[in-house]
Amino acid sequence: MPFQLTDDQLLTRDSVREFAEAEIAPIAAEIDKNHRPPLESIPKLAEMGLLGMIIPEEYGGTGMDTVSYVIAIEELSRVCATHGVLAEAHSSLCTWPIVNYGNAEQKQKYLPDLANGNAIGAFGLTEPNAGSDAGSTSTTAVRDGDEFVLNGQKIFITNGGFAKTFVIIARSTDAPGAKGLSAFIVERDTAGFQVLEPEQKMGIRGSSTTPLAFSDCRIPAANLLGNQGEGFKIAMQILDGGRTGIAAQALGIAQGAFEAACKYAKERVQFGKPLAALQAIQWMIADMAVDIEAGRALVYQAADTEDRHEPHSQASAMAKLFCGEMATRVTGKAIQIHGGVGYTEAYPVERMYRDAKITEIYEGTSEIQRLVISRNYLR
Ligand code: CAA
Repeated sequence: MPFQLTDDQLLTRDSVREFAEAEIAPIAAEIDKNHRPPLESIPKLAEMGLLGMIIPEEYGGTGMDTVSYVIAIEELSRVCATHGVLAEAHSSLCTWPIVNYGNAEQKQKYLPDLANGNAIGAFGLTEPNAGSDAGSTSTTAVRDGDEFVLNGQKIFITNGGFAKTFVIIARSTDAPGAKGLSAFIVERDTAGFQVLEPEQKMGIRGSSTTPLAFSDCRIPAANLLGNQGEGFKIAMQILDGGRTGIAAQALGIAQGAFEAACKYAKERVQFGKPLAALQAIQWMIADMAVDIEAGRALVYQAADTEDRHEPHSQASAMAKLFCGEMATRVTGKAIQIHGGVGYTEAYPVERMYRDAKITEIYEGTSEIQRLVISRNYLR
């Protein structure tokens, strides 16, 4: 059955597209070139309701359904993947666990500021020796009276350079592997917590990606999110939603590159006619369109499955796997259609190609998505 968007979802697409083209597209190339986090966009995103998308209205959010949320991420990423992941990591990786696992006090304390842009959120799972193998997390959180004391290091933390609220996964019990992990809320200005120098990356260069260091960092025991020992399950559930968000980011990048390729193919004249009149180009455009529509179906299907409160690990892994690889294919073809100029900074497709690659890696590599998907068939 074809996926039918509601009037509200279509309105979300129109309004986010208009906002993204007016406010974000003009700075997309510059923040990429300068590796500059677009801090000036944060109040604008907040005003548009794009930082409280999955926060209930009673805490100042817009309480959107998941399909609307992924449409918003898709539209931001269509013009700038950095903005897409800023909003995605903030929402899926930080606000989601507080909304779903926070107690009344935690929600009241953290959600309003996350919704209105006073605080940007980040999520700390990955460590130098715990990447795909998230269960081997070694950062510790030791209970000491009314506090937990954190020690260890996290890496590749999206929004790290400017986030104020961090959801951190750490080992807090003696239980082996994944069972010993718990989730905590850590505030940026806590003594013993340090945000280190950002990475210099191939793509999404405006996105701030930093290591975090914890050295006898004391946080209130009240900042435990959910129960002790639930941290791995919480992290996996965060990623079940987050992977659909990254699939939407990949979809948006591909859509942006596709539109740029169509435009160029109609304008550029060779052999006495526009490129668009050449069958070699027409076939590439057709293949790109099919790829994008297949990816869109998987993304909306995964989001709709989450909206129906059904298990969605499999659907989100499929959407992320397909869209990550699809975005790399589509942006590569977009460069090919542009020819030599596509390889230069004069056109946006080289940025989109660089941005697309990370969607095959973060929030679980394509290999991890294949593992998640195949397990469902082979157990
Ligand atoms: N929901 C709920 N529970 C889940 C779950 C899910 N989706 N997936 C697993 N679990 C539970 C299992 O049921 C199991 O529970 P029991 O022991 O009670 O049976 C427990 O968690 C352990 O599960 P597994 O045995 O499957 O664990 P594993 O060690 O084999 O790991 C994995 C599974 C899929 C490989 C997982 O480690 C994984 O997803 N790795 C990739 C990590 C990742 O995606 N990192 C991204 C970092 S965040 C990021 O990138 C952010 C950014 O910058 C934008």
